[in-house]
Amino acid sequence: MTKRIALCAVMLLAGLGVAQADSLDPIAVRQAGFSLQNGDFAYIRSVVKDKGDVKPLEGPAKAIAMWTKVIPTLFPKGTETGGNTRALPEIWSDPAGFQKIALAANDAATKLATDAKAGNAEEVAADAKLLGEQCGACHKAYRTK
Ligand code: HEC
Repeated sequence: MTKRIALCAVMLLAGLGVAQADSLDPIAVRQAGFSLQNGDFAYIRSVVKDKGDVKPLEGPAKAIAMWTKVIPTLFPKGTETGGNTRALPEIWSDPAGFQKIALAANDAATKLATDAKAGNAEEVAADAKLLGEQCGACHKAYRTK
């Protein structure tokens, strides 16, 4: 009997958990993604700066490529404001410009992954510079300071 009550309690708690997970918050999700990507990019830059082995950079570069590909989908209508978003209205008034930078960042990250795999440190450094320029360009036009 006690066991059954305990089981019910567990099921109830699990149910509550599911209900909470249902309320997807696109602003919190994209901010978490940007933070993770920031960590990956900081690691890439530190290896480039220290002239370390670039081969392990393939993984984080691939993750950034995956991420930059989905960036344009993470700003659905209705998330222009809310939470502590720093998104500027230009994301919605100029979606083509926004997508173009995301695509350029995607290209740079994809190339970085290939060059890292090949152990080509010089190219990796150039790719990282190009990728960093895309982060900056997008923030300048589409994110508050
Ligand atoms: C296509 C546009 C775009 C690109 C490319 C881009 N960002 Fe961003 N980034 C944004 C926008 C817009 C926000 C604000 C999101 C929000 O607050 O809703 C943001 C937010 C962030 C944040 C803050 C996350 C937080 O905690 O709220 C960091 C850190 C960040 N970006 C790092 C980067 C880095 C590093 C790169 C490049 C490797 C990059 N971003 C590329 C548009 C971009």
